Amino acid sequence: MVNSRPDKHDPLTLKDSTLAVHAGNTIDAGTGAIRTPIVMANSYALPEDPSAVSWSGTDVPLYTRNSGVNQLGLQAKLAALDGGEDAVVLASGVAALHAVFFTYLRSGDHVVVADVSYEATWRLFTELLPDKYGIEATFVDISDLAAVAAAIRPNTRIVHTEAIANPTTRVADIEALATIAHQGGALLVVDSTFTPPPFYRPLADGADLVVHSLTKYINGHGDAMGGAVIGSRKLIQLIKADAMVDVGGVISPFNAWLITRGSVTLPLRLRQHLESAQLVAEFLDSDPRIAFVAFPGLESHPQHELATRQFAGRGYGAMLAFAVAGDPETQNRFVAQLRVITSAVSLGHDESLIVHVGSSGPRVAAYPAPFREFGHLRFSVGLEDPLDLIADLRAALDATFA
Ligand SMILES: Cc1ncc(COP(=O)(O)O)c(C=O)c1O
Repeated sequence: MVNSRPDKHDPLTLKDSTLAVHAGNTIDAGTGAIRTPIVMANSYALPEDPSAVSWSGTDVPLYTRNSGVNQLGLQAKLAALDGGEDAVVLASGVAALHAVFFTYLRSGDHVVVADVSYEATWRLFTELLPDKYGIEATFVDISDLAAVAAAIRPNTRIVHTEAIANPTTRVADIEALATIAHQGGALLVVDSTFTPPPFYRPLADGADLVVHSLTKYINGHGDAMGGAVIGSRKLIQLIKADAMVDVGGVISPFNAWLITRGSVTLPLRLRQHLESAQLVAEFLDSDPRIAFVAFPGLESHPQHELATRQFAGRGYGAMLAFAVAGDPETQNRFVAQLRVITSAVSLGHDESLIVHVGSSGPRVAAYPAPFREFGHLRFSVGLEDPLDLIADLRAALDATFA
């Protein structure tokens, strides 16, 4: 006989680690399996009389583009972790960003966008959305609140920022931005990929929608792609209807299952990521062969105080940008000497990843001066022992400057 129990996952009373283990998981009614199995079926059995079924419904298992059981479980978990009423999961972080813009913008609308943003966001607002759909964007330094307020127009529908910006690590004051956006009648959308829960929850500071690339910290193991948007039931419902069911960039059940599994250890992993990043940043900052280090946990960072307040002392993220003193060739020589840290794009994986990004391209104009002078190495501090990471960096510096 299959055991079952009432839903005991009350996000209002349970703590983060408990939610990360249990939220969204159910005992499988068919087998009694205590972990939701991977359900690869595209379709679910209909009731004898299906006349009451909504073919575009997204709340009960019906069809995998609307509501497969692995998606539903992951959505429930992410909503609980980020403190939202509901969540929608899609095939990638970029699919999630697109879903928000596709759902909430129409031709003639205006958007205020942080001038330092992930590359695809930048391209969406410099080329694709203006050229194809007549959506206008103003790029602003999001740390200049007066400039943000001045950029708002009567037709501004969205203010979009990353909580910690990729790649400069500029920190956005979410509470202040929410006030400005709401005064202008706009939604505040926060890409929180660098700041996953329980490290930070932008909804609690007034953001309307939070976007994550699940590919990064939330899955955490570098083996599945996904994206999510979290917010009120009303806002998420429209994204499900417009951008999931009718555009269809849906996540695969297998990836939803992998990400659900990966996210079980999210609070535990994050503690180590945050602690190691601080140690690594301090080591780099102390070495004279390093040209600059951008990391909100350093007192030299322009938003250090804001980050301390906003992230309530939990940490400063685990992404940093730095350069060794020298030309692009020197950066490459340094990276080639690393033995523990892997040279590859992406971030938030268990293994440390580094990528040499040059100092050219349209986005670079908005970066701080040292980024333009040296280029930068974007460094995702992983879960290896921080002493091994520091030893790897020191040995590579020694070899580069020998
Ligand atoms: C801040 C940020 N947002 C969105 C994305 C896109 O995520 P995905 O690669 O899952 O589409 C990335 C990817 O690096 C990112 O860094």
